[in-house]
Amino acid sequence: MPAVPLIIDTDTGSDDAVALLLAAAGGLGDIRAVTTVAGNVPVGTGTRNALISLETAGRTDIPVHPGCARPMTRPLSSAQQVHGEDGMGDIGLPDPTAAGHGTHAVEVLLSRPREHPGELTLVTLAPLTNIAAALLRDPALFTRYRHVYCMAGAADLRGNIAPTAEFNVWADPEAARIVTQAATPEKVTWIGWDVSRQDAVMTEADQRRLERLGTPMATFAHRINRTVADWARDVTGLAGYDLPDPVAMAVALRPGLVVEREQAYVEISVGDDTRGQMIIDRRVSAPAPNLTLVRRVDETGFKELLFDTLATPVAPHTGSGAATATPRIGPSS
Ligand code: RIB
Ligand code: CA
Repeated sequence: MPAVPLIIDTDTGSDDAVALLLAAAGGLGDIRAVTTVAGNVPVGTGTRNALISLETAGRTDIPVHPGCARPMTRPLSSAQQVHGEDGMGDIGLPDPTAAGHGTHAVEVLLSRPREHPGELTLVTLAPLTNIAAALLRDPALFTRYRHVYCMAGAADLRGNIAPTAEFNVWADPEAARIVTQAATPEKVTWIGWDVSRQDAVMTEADQRRLERLGTPMATFAHRINRTVADWARDVTGLAGYDLPDPVAMAVALRPGLVVEREQAYVEISVGDDTRGQMIIDRRVSAPAPNLTLVRRVDETGFKELLFDTLATPVAPHTGSGAATATPRIGPSS
């Protein structure tokens, strides 16, 4: 299967980092650009983390474009209590050798699909601020991409950052509302936290298996997710840490992993008590669907794809930019 041409929008926390490895290594994705946005961590930190993650995959050639530093109308509410102050488990990762690109993320999100109409898949792993800003300038933006996959929402209303809301939609609900108003189910698919907590939880056995792989990417993935493992135990009560961004990325790379989906009309609540909640209208009288919602994924297939990719040795990149085959791991914590 040919590599999928990708644009990835990320707020690079520890699960985003694993999604970047999944896309960058093993020949699954052809990443044309990464754009960053404030979310898990401030945008500068997210940019640093994206550069570190790509370097760990030996891909310092992939450009990383910083984007919006705060949500559309609200102040930034980060998730550093979940992923650590640096978003990567606070294990002292060394600085990346590459730097962020000077072209703004929103310009890239607008220009690349015009240069390559119908060719690029956009995968969003963060609050939808950059995407919404691009849509305000080009309302037909989604028609220019081959498909748009968003790690967003919780279709079963079981939230992570709030009782009924998932973080990426909760952090910037106004942006999520702009996205749902521009979306069609043929072009936009949401993979919500309901999928992650059911089909992408790294159990203790999975975590031991990852640790035993011992490759640079596996060691990196294991160590940066220690903080989120504690949060899962203490807050969401899962049987391990879940991987919402990697499972969304896996769906974009291998849509055959989806075992249950629906099309529905979705609005986003921007009220204070229900901020970020998905309002899903499944009545006969509902407006025409605007999103495809993935509801379940093949857990075994996802985890095999993940472990196979992280088990691959890092092939030094032969293109421009230095590649590195050494793990980006700082002093042991
Ligand atoms: O709710 C999970 C989402 O919020 C993931 O994208 C995670 O990285 C955080 O951004
Ligand atoms: Ca994310």
